Amino acid sequence: MSAMTVAPKPVTPVSPSRDTLSVTDNRTGMSYEIPIHEGAIRATELRKIKSGADDFGVVSYDPGFMNTAACRSAITYIDGDKGILRYRGYPIEEIAGKKSFLEVAYLLLNGEFPTAAQSDAWVYEITHHTFLHENIKKFIDGFQHDAHTMGILLSTIGALSPFYPDAKKIFDDETRQKQIVRLIAKTPTIAAFAYRHATGLPYVYPDNDLSYAGNFLSMLWKTTEVKYQPDPILARALDVLFVLHADHEQNCSTSTMRVIGSSQPDPYSAAAGAVGALYGPLHGGANEQVVRMLEGIGSVKNIPEHIKRVKAGELRLMGFGHRVYKNYDPRARIIKRVAEEVFSVTGRNPLIDIAIELEKIALDDEYFISRKLYPNVDFYSGIIYQAMHFPVEMFPVLFAIGRMPGWLAQWQEGILDPDQKIARPLQIYTGAGERHIS
Ligand code: CMC
Repeated sequence: MSAMTVAPKPVTPVSPSRDTLSVTDNRTGMSYEIPIHEGAIRATELRKIKSGADDFGVVSYDPGFMNTAACRSAITYIDGDKGILRYRGYPIEEIAGKKSFLEVAYLLLNGEFPTAAQSDAWVYEITHHTFLHENIKKFIDGFQHDAHTMGILLSTIGALSPFYPDAKKIFDDETRQKQIVRLIAKTPTIAAFAYRHATGLPYVYPDNDLSYAGNFLSMLWKTTEVKYQPDPILARALDVLFVLHADHEQNCSTSTMRVIGSSQPDPYSAAAGAVGALYGPLHGGANEQVVRMLEGIGSVKNIPEHIKRVKAGELRLMGFGHRVYKNYDPRARIIKRVAEEVFSVTGRNPLIDIAIELEKIALDDEYFISRKLYPNVDFYSGIIYQAMHFPVEMFPVLFAIGRMPGWLAQWQEGILDPDQKIARPLQIYTGAGERHIS
């Protein structure tokens, strides 16, 4: 988008083929022509619209960034009305189950899937950076036994920053690449250690013979056996779940990663902020809330009463609705299939029947239809995690493991973007005018 200086001029009818927007300021009668590029206007163009010489200029007020593009990005494409999600152009339906999580991570970061040789080198690098500095264990040990695992993850990822002082050199390609590898490799280890700490079990060190997801399961569940053998169906299901969560363009946590990244600290500091954003019940904490909600409903016969309370505005139907998808979330469709595969190993989670019936009733109800509220990725993921015996506190942690490559790809794209500036939104001041202490 190029900023153009446009002198105020009277309104004239514009030809429909011009890529501009004509705006008339009725306060002054002045008219302005603002360039439209890639479907967007530069918000700073509005500043030229002033009611007088002292006026700051018009600003756009957009809480929650409902209609503001904060960056240009080539990573993930979503068409929320059509229910489309593509990573680097590839539809999620073609990727999930066919490409491993680490291949998808490579795709997000580099723009292309790795060749066989690149894949081997990439997997080797990740596999050989899974260990944590022993002092990190002491840090985790300091948490109370009932600390939420997401809180431990958040703090420990932030704590990696002083362990790797070289990480500040974010514009050095080799150094940046090393931190990317470390974050993707170490996040499951921190997550598993957080879980083991919370349950009072000894930490299990990474096993380099296992896959990314298989090693994570080993670090979580291994007890006295010499070698933990992850169930291949469960390891694969977890890998698919990570793929489904790997990126989702400019969501709350990714925007946080980019915003923090815009002041150019090391990526551990930015990723800790992203984990914090993901923690909330409206974002990555939603899968935890879905399970709590389904358990609260308790039985199919209680669904109508629950729906009544949602429609009365007393509650939200957790796992329903999305800022971008105004159609079925394509990830929810895939996840429903993964659920069946997982249940073939774990047995059926009884909550699934409540979820399916709840979905059926909601999708038939005018309240949900008119607001275009459909199940999102979190509606079914929690049920799968629960069947796999993850405690609810681990659900957002699992989301964070999956999202880490997306955060890093977006962070990297942001810091290398010549258009990027330090994030610094404006405000509309509503407080007192100047006053003085008497
Ligand atoms: N249950 C009931 N009503 C809802 C829900 C819901 N889950 N979501 C939105 N609405 C209603 C809302 O009350 C409003 O109605 P009205 O127009 O009468 O005031 C309308 O739909 C629009 O809602 P909104 O809050 O303006 O929509 P938003 O785009 O700001 O919020 C959302 C998106 C995801 C935060 C919201 O749908 C929600 O709170 N869902 C439940 C939490 C959830 O499942 N979050 C996970 C999102 S997917 C994973 C991720 O990417 O993090």
